[in-house]
Amino acid sequence: MKRGYSESPSTSSIGPPQSRFKPNPEVDAQFLEDESTKIFARKVADHYSARTNQTLEEREASIKSVLIQLYTRRGDAVLDLACGKGGDLIKWDKAKVGYYVGIDIAEGSIEDCRTRYNGDADHHQRRKKFSFPARLICGDCYEARLDEVLANDGPFDICSCQFAMHYSWSTEARARRALANVSALLRPGGTFIGTMPDANVIIKKLRQADRLEFGNSVYWIHFDEEFSDKKFRSSSPFGIKYKFHLEDAVDCPEWIVPFHVFKSLAEEYDLELVFVKNSHEFVHEYMKKAEYVELMRRLGALGDGNQDPSTLSPDEWEVAYLYLAFVLRKRGQPDQTQVNGKRDRGQMHISKEDVMAIGS
Ligand SMILES: C[S@@+](CC[C@H](N)C(=O)[O-])C[C@H]1O[C@@H](n2cnc3c(N)ncnc32)[C@H](O)[C@@H]1O
Repeated sequence: MKRGYSESPSTSSIGPPQSRFKPNPEVDAQFLEDESTKIFARKVADHYSARTNQTLEEREASIKSVLIQLYTRRGDAVLDLACGKGGDLIKWDKAKVGYYVGIDIAEGSIEDCRTRYNGDADHHQRRKKFSFPARLICGDCYEARLDEVLANDGPFDICSCQFAMHYSWSTEARARRALANVSALLRPGGTFIGTMPDANVIIKKLRQADRLEFGNSVYWIHFDEEFSDKKFRSSSPFGIKYKFHLEDAVDCPEWIVPFHVFKSLAEEYDLELVFVKNSHEFVHEYMKKAEYVELMRRLGALGDGNQDPSTLSPDEWEVAYLYLAFVLRKRGQPDQTQVNGKRDRGQMHISKEDVMAIGS
């Protein structure tokens, strides 16, 4: 196929078309940020700082619960890139992690994450304190040199980037910075887990639509006129922007991530694909099997009516189809003698002054 996108959702069993994108290591050295990139990053930050309604990530929480539970071991040091309001803190607690660092560009989200971690947000639920020390950082994790910022915190056993990797795909430099950060901070054999939009599904839906937008009662996606021919050159796999609108939230700029490009770029940074699955396939494969239903029940991810995939409306189920889950592993053998993550860098109660701000 000419356009570099298959007509089916992403899966490791269906081989993606060969990329004609030629990785450019020179960009690695530059990491240039122009003004428009910064403006878009700010737009994304403002969008998330302002959001208070039930989020997509909360609805899709059960997929994240399975990923976290399957790939985390007791005592692991976790780096949560684009951690948002800390919606995964309870999942990390259930996985009994030993140290947690969360980073997000949105000041409002980091503040919510801080109060949630401290237990202030959940006083009506009388939640017990989290059992792991943590650090929170506010900044652009696709621009900053996190290996320098976190030089005394790593290496990490797990890096998680949930519903956020696509914000790095505005430029090649940002995508490379994202992967360079993950690779530099993961220990050999460490795991990178995440969820992000499934480019194959989005492009398929765009091509099926009469116009440059599509959606349902829950969401819509809009592409600009520059993509009116609905063709995407595989030699330019970065900066393919669309607007994503979710219910009553304001629009947010997002970028298509062709998965085969993500995979080959990740390999350059010593991150090897373990698996990729569209969310629908993921739910069928993991969450409907008896052993995983039991796991979900133990995690408390089923039963409150919101997160059980079988209770999603058809329109919400269609939103889930827009996403994929991935797992990558950092090449190399783990050093059994090394204790990962400098836990003494974290705290059990985080004050406003403890939150580190990085970048501009
Ligand atoms: C859909 S939310 C997901 C939040 C969280 N990972 C979760 O699953 O609950 C996307 C998050 O990515 C963050 N984000 C977007 N661009 C970012 C960047 N350049 N650096 C750090 N965080 C970013 C947003 O502020 C937002 O909190």
